[in-house]
Amino acid sequence: MNAERGKTRFQIDLRRYLREQSIDRDLIRLICEISDASKYIINSIRTGDLGVAGTSNLYGEKQLALDVLSDRIIQKRLKFSGVVANIVSEETPEIISVSEPSNRRYSVLFDPLDGSSLVDVNLAVGTIVSIYEGESVLQAGRNQVAALYILYGPRTTMVLSFGSGVHEFAMNQLMDYDLVTENLTMAGPARVYSPGGMRSRYSSGTEKFIQYIENTGAKLRYSGGFVPDINQVLIKRGGLFMYPHLTDSPQGKLRTLFELNPMAYLIEQAGGAASTGRQPILDVVPQAIDDRAPIFIGSKAEVAMAEKFIAEHG
Ligand code: F6P
Ligand code: MN
Repeated sequence: MNAERGKTRFQIDLRRYLREQSIDRDLIRLICEISDASKYIINSIRTGDLGVAGTSNLYGEKQLALDVLSDRIIQKRLKFSGVVANIVSEETPEIISVSEPSNRRYSVLFDPLDGSSLVDVNLAVGTIVSIYEGESVLQAGRNQVAALYILYGPRTTMVLSFGSGVHEFAMNQLMDYDLVTENLTMAGPARVYSPGGMRSRYSSGTEKFIQYIENTGAKLRYSGGFVPDINQVLIKRGGLFMYPHLTDSPQGKLRTLFELNPMAYLIEQAGGAASTGRQPILDVVPQAIDDRAPIFIGSKAEVAMAEKFIAEHG
């Protein structure tokens, strides 16, 4: 089924698409539960309370009511799916073990509402999900069996990989997901770049790298939402997103398990690359669930250049 973007001749929905692939039925169940959860999350984003919840997450950040609600919606679906062993959420401080482990085969790590502080300014936000087989949640990202993100923008889209390419789906009028593009690939050079973090705190390697990118004629496009910024790199078929190590935060800002690993998996599956600046993100073995790391992700050639500048200048 090769659906040219935006010109699908007949629709194929997510569930049917997954059933036509040779993937495990429990994994299909799991992905469909998450896609169902997103229907409720999009409704909360559209009309829900924009206030704070009065609580803090794993990183000591103030939680919004929307963060807490999105987390609950996904957790509930995962717990009742019957196929999940362990759950870890960016919004909840501990590993949640789902009891009755008979056929519970997957562990799921997720960021329920990434970029939630952008909802009040009406910019795009997303849900990011990482899936492993078995019970261990502290594994290198390379071991993921699937990853996805859902982008709540003018349209709601899902970008998914279960290890054989990256596929884009869009929510239709009935709130089901239809296939938009199968096998998204990033062949081209970086036409856009999204630089996170304050430039005055960049290392000299990162500063030299950003000057290099600017001189290629790429356009600066940074929304402040990881999901839309990564989606732009992918859908434009080339680009570079970074949230580098900073002089006052050597591990950068973004979280290895909930944000970096799933995105690195998706971008590698599309033919791009993702690096801490010194090694592939997917090879990092996490030490704790709240680990962070710097990231340079997108077109292969630009990620390689970032590594070169950082190896030479730090
Ligand atoms: O979850 C972290 C996040 O909100 C990402 O969505 C985004 O890429 C990043 O933080 C933005 O950070 P900053 O506000 O420093 O640009
Ligand atoms: Mn986040």
